[in-house]
Amino acid sequence: MNLIKKVKIQSIDLGVPLIRDDMAEFLRTQIKEHKPQHILEIGTGIGYSAIVMASAMNETGFDYELITVEKNEERAKHAAGNFCGYSHKYDIKLVVGDAKDFLKSAIEKKWVFDFIFLDGPKAQYVNYLEDIVTLMSSGGILVADNIYCKANPKLAEKLKKFVEAAKAHKDLKDVRIENIADGVLIATKK
Ligand SMILES: C[S@@+](CC[C@H](N)C(=O)[O-])C[C@H]1O[C@@H](n2cnc3c(N)ncnc32)[C@H](O)[C@@H]1O
Repeated sequence: MNLIKKVKIQSIDLGVPLIRDDMAEFLRTQIKEHKPQHILEIGTGIGYSAIVMASAMNETGFDYELITVEKNEERAKHAAGNFCGYSHKYDIKLVVGDAKDFLKSAIEKKWVFDFIFLDGPKAQYVNYLEDIVTLMSSGGILVADNIYCKANPKLAEKLKKFVEAAKAHKDLKDVRIENIADGVLIATKK
């Protein structure tokens, strides 16, 4: 069984949320189109979406580095196990910690990403937006999952604020919502 299938099954068995199949396909298409060199993911789970993105990059033949951030230590341990057996194949670096701290420290280090996939704590998306935009290169792409958050009306309200803030952001353009999975926001930095 290939690693993507293995990690998908493991996520389901462990009850760890993971991107849906149409979202995985959307991410693969975006990655292959933009061929980003520096990819950031917020919310690793046990590594399924990171491996989906890394394998799409491998298919392009271009060099890349993917950093993925996970706060839950147990999940991070599983993710590390999933990544390390394949380190020769996938250039994925796992950061264990709070995304908020990671974003601040990446800004201090003046890191820049040309593709950011936001799949962490939904209530924080709106609070992360300014730091995320700061970390994006000009022409960089932001993809955020679960924009409708149909299962949780309270969170859905917070996500509406995130979408409004992204649409109004002076440094973002082409902000749109794709009606796939649980709603996906995609935006480009000017
Ligand atoms: C939807 S899951 C990620 C699924 C993963 N992207 C995938 O499709 O395989 C969201 C993850 O964000 C993590 N998370 C929640 N709050 C966080 C925070 N403040 N910083 C970093 N990760 C966080 C959760 O522990 C959870 O594993």
